[in-house]
Amino acid sequence: MTDASTGDTRMRPGRATEFHRLAVRAVAPLTTDAVAITLEAPAGQGGLFDFRAGQHLVLRRLVGGREERRTYSLCTAAGSGTLQVAVRRLTGGVVSTWLTEQLRVGDEVEALPPTGTFGPVLAAGNRRTYGLIAVGSGITPLMSIASTVLEVEPDSEVVLVYGNRTSRDVMFLEELADLKDRHPGRLQVLHVLTAEQQEAELLNGRLDRARLDALLAAFVSVERVDQWYVCGPQDVVADARDALLEAGAEPASVHRELFYAGAVAPAAALPAAPGPAVSVSVLLHGRTTVLEMSRSGPAVLDALLEVRSDAPYACRSGVCGTCRARCVEGQVTMASNDALEPDEVRSGVVLTCQALPVTPTVRLEFC
Ligand SMILES: Cc1cc2nc3c(=O)[nH]c(=O)nc-3n(C[C@H](O)[C@H](O)[C@H](O)COP(=O)(O)OP(=O)(O)OC[C@H]3O[C@@H](n4cnc5c(N)ncnc54)[C@H](O)[C@@H]3O)c2cc1C
Ligand code: FES
Repeated sequence: MTDASTGDTRMRPGRATEFHRLAVRAVAPLTTDAVAITLEAPAGQGGLFDFRAGQHLVLRRLVGGREERRTYSLCTAAGSGTLQVAVRRLTGGVVSTWLTEQLRVGDEVEALPPTGTFGPVLAAGNRRTYGLIAVGSGITPLMSIASTVLEVEPDSEVVLVYGNRTSRDVMFLEELADLKDRHPGRLQVLHVLTAEQQEAELLNGRLDRARLDALLAAFVSVERVDQWYVCGPQDVVADARDALLEAGAEPASVHRELFYAGAVAPAAALPAAPGPAVSVSVLLHGRTTVLEMSRSGPAVLDALLEVRSDAPYACRSGVCGTCRARCVEGQVTMASNDALEPDEVRSGVVLTCQALPVTPTVRLEFC
């Protein structure tokens, strides 16, 4: 691997792929295992922490000398001036346990500026219906989308189907009720609970394919919904997409976000492809690095991180989209992709943590 760098190599302040220290302004319980964390954007960064509905932050923490990075969706309305994430504790979870149990007002967290493309482009004149489907902590980006839509598009409506165990596990239960009150007739919320009986039988049980089919048929006019946003565990997201497509939704109108994709085979574990080294040139922060790589791995991001510690990433498993770059010459293959929409892939965007070069020369530009 060679580093043929050109141009400015200094870290400039305010760059979108640089970590910033954010003060913790509030930590408020949402449920017994989830908290809302309000952060203060760093001063003097000229709107670097402004965000669009559905975007997320990458937080990092050093644990035993090892850097751990995790992604958390912003849950407040874009333009509200409040930078807030909501975190559910996972059993044994390195970062979620710290955030939910140890973080205190006055502490600081390190975060990358908001990124992500999961969320609609809004305009005050739109008259649309947005369909949202969430399970558990998957509500966080949808909470931001719902509250932003209701604020920014006075003629648009939102339908939310939200699955949980019991009403005590519902993150944002009160906030959703407040949103309904503030926007009468424009927000419909269907709470689906697995371990608590509700009057309507259809709302009792897992949000699986059969229940989604039944709910859509009974409560939601799919043909009236312009865009769908789905966030939850992998099986729910897959079931929801299938149910929506079968109910007549356009494939391009169904947008999905996963928080976790289970055990993903790392790109470097793909079968070895013989042949000479290939040349991958990467443009990042105005500086080009040329990597001499094998077609069988490691993935472009792994190779790049050996010489460029400023390369952006979080999950390294094809889920968060932080490592995205555009392939402007040659071709790469991705071992997995749970972050990019089909039209992004068609336009040449790739996840560098999953990318292996196919052609003898490849040129990538981080975006
Ligand atoms: C785009 C995106 C947005 C996200 N937004 C949020 C959010 O708003 N709120 C939130 O609470 N989380 C969110 N997550 C998940 C978050 O980034 C972490 O994965 C999660 O907090 C677990 O981190 P951890 O360090 O506590 O667990 P780890 O120490 O990484 O893992 C502990 C155990 O849980 C498993 N695991 C890891 N993550 C998950 C998961 N999400 N579901 C089930 N099992 C898992 C691991 O395999 C391991 O066995 C988001 C993830 C992505 C990619
Ligand atoms: S680092 Fe998360 S998709 Fe590549």
